[in-house]
Formats: sequence, structure tokens, C-alpha cells
Amino acid sequence: MENKQFEDVFEAKLAKNEMIEPKDWMPDNYRKHLIRQISQHAHSEIVGMLPEGNWITRAPSLRAKVVLLAKVQDEGGHGLYLYTAAETLGTGRDELLEALHTGKAKYSSIFNYPTLTWADIGAVGWLVDGAAIMNQVMLQRTSYGPYARAMVRICKEESFHQRQGYEIMCHLSFGTAEQKAMAQDALNRWWFPTMMMFGPPDSESPNSENALKWRIKRESNDQLRQRFVNQTVQQVEYLGLTVPDPKLKWNEEKKGYDFSEPNWVEFKNVISGNGPCNKERLAARNQAHKNGEWVRAAAQAFAKKRAQKIAA
Ligand code: 3HC
Repeated sequence: MENKQFEDVFEAKLAKNEMIEPKDWMPDNYRKHLIRQISQHAHSEIVGMLPEGNWITRAPSLRAKVVLLAKVQDEGGHGLYLYTAAETLGTGRDELLEALHTGKAKYSSIFNYPTLTWADIGAVGWLVDGAAIMNQVMLQRTSYGPYARAMVRICKEESFHQRQGYEIMCHLSFGTAEQKAMAQDALNRWWFPTMMMFGPPDSESPNSENALKWRIKRESNDQLRQRFVNQTVQQVEYLGLTVPDPKLKWNEEKKGYDFSEPNWVEFKNVISGNGPCNKERLAARNQAHKNGEWVRAAAQAFAKKRAQKIAA
């Protein structure tokens, strides 16, 4: 087939809402776009283990510890599914990790903020995983098969994570005045960084046009941000807390809230490596990778020996 014919088959599949699979022909830019997005997503999952992992030894009860431990392990698993999905596009995991460890690759801005109190673990589960689900539900129907299938399992686990966070926020908000103040303080610090997770405004999002055209994303950054605010405000009200945004106001005409834009200068700084914890996160990732060297070497030696045994 000529290139044009391959392209027609690709476009026809997209038009019929069919998945593109690893062995199918795909335009180079589609492949590059997916490798960029899926690998950034994978990096976000494993870097996201750090701010919460930091609280496992300080969880206030055995139950809270077990639940948090399970959640952090889930995030590691999500990273693995996503790196595997990226590998089906012809890239190597070593290459992707090298880009993360040298600071060339991006990961979600949100994980460059510190988790200062136990209430932050509640706010992260509730808001951060809540925002992640808002974005990721549509990715279950993304056009690339291995990414879509990975997202189905990830979304199931993310909803458990969101409930884990909201449960902590409920305990604190309906607890003592001091606990409620901790919950409000965490909400104050995590609200705007969470809004940044959806990415820059549509008018400043260079990748959105292709992502929407190729059905990699099905909704825009602004649409998802709006839906997140509409849904979360009710949860804030139930907790008896206050959204830290004086401009937040119901707009009957659009059937949604008006709200303040996050500080996009701060966002740009964070994604350029200058957020409050970027250096700490990269150092921790590099150290973890170094510590795991013997595991990788042992696995490779085992695989080699097994292959020799099969060949003999
Ligand atoms: N943090 C870091 N970088 C971000 C960002 C964020 N919150 N939002 C946007 N960016 C980057 C983009 O990667 C892009 O950089 P690049 O061109 O150098 O790659 C640039 O800013 C411009 O943004 P665009 O809107 O053009 O980029 P996208 O169309 O890719 O949209 C996105 C950004 C919404 C994050 C999209 O990539 C996406 O939906 N990704 C999949 C979901 C994902 O990665 N989620 C991470 C959340 S955390 C998580 O899932 C862990 C869970 O356990 C909580």
C-alpha cells in the first residue's frame, strides 16, 4: 500500500471509533505524541509515590497505614502498566527512565509540592486522585489500544484512592476544631496546584489540537477543569470547609462555577524544574534507581540463564 492508503485506513479507524493497535500503521507524529504523553503519565505515577510514601511510617493508625501502603503500591503498578504501553510504541524503558532521571522528561506538576501534614495525605487522595480520575476516565476510550486498556484498571484503583483521601478529610473535618483547621489548611494549599494538573488553558495548550483530532484526548484541559470544580465544590461544602477562591460563584447560565485561574507563572516555573520539591523528587528517584541496580542485574542474569537452558 502507498503511504496515503495507510493514512486512509488509520483515519477510517479513528472515524469508526476503533482502536489503533501496536502493529497497525500510524503517523510518526501520532506515535511521538503518544510516547510523550504515556511516558509523562508513567513518570507521574512513580514520582507520585514519593510525597505519600513519605507518610507511611507516620500514618496515625494501623488501618490508615495499610490503606496508604496499598495506595502507594498501586501507583507503582500504574507506572509499570504505562511504561509497558509506551514500550509497545517502540521505545525502551531505559531510555524513558534516563529522560526522567536527567530532568529532561516532564511529570505532573502536582508532585513538586510538599506533603506537610497528615491532612495533606487526605487532600492528595481526594483532590489529586480526584483530578486524575476526571482526566483519566476519558483515557479509557483513548484511541491507542494498550493505553486505553491500561487506563481501565488504573481508573478502578484511582477511585479507591479518591475515597481513601476523602475518608481522611471526613475524619478531620468532623473531628476537633484543630483537626478541621488542618483539613482547611491542606485544602488551601492543594486547591490551585490541583487545578494546574489539567494543563494550561486551551488557548495555550500546543498539544491539544492533535490530541483531540486523534482522539487521544476526548475533552480539553479547560472542560475537564470546569467539571472538576463543579463536582468538587459540593464535596467541600459537605465537609464544611471553604474553597480558597473569593471569585468562586455559581453561574446559572453556564450551569457551572466561575472561578479564578491558577497562577500560570507558578505552573511554568514548576514544570521547568523550579517548583518547591523538584530537586528533592529527582534526587529521590535517582537514588531509588541506583538502589535497584542489583535487582535489575539479578533479573537479567536469571533471564539469560533460562534462555541458555531452553536453547540447550
Ligand atoms: N504537569 C506537568 N506538565 C504539564 C502539565 C502538568 N500538570 N500540564 C501540561 N503539562 C505540559 C505538557 O506535558 C506539555 O509539555 P510538552 O509539550 O513538553 O510535553 C505542556 O505542558 C503543554 O501542555 P498541553 O496542554 O499542550 O499538553 P497535553 O495536551 O499533553 O495535556 C495533560 C497535558 C492534560 C497532563 C495530558 O498530557 C494528559 O492528559 N496526560 C495523561 C494523564 C496524566 O499524565 N496525568 C498525570 C496526573 S498524575 C497521576 O495520574 C497519578 C495519580 O496517581 C494521581
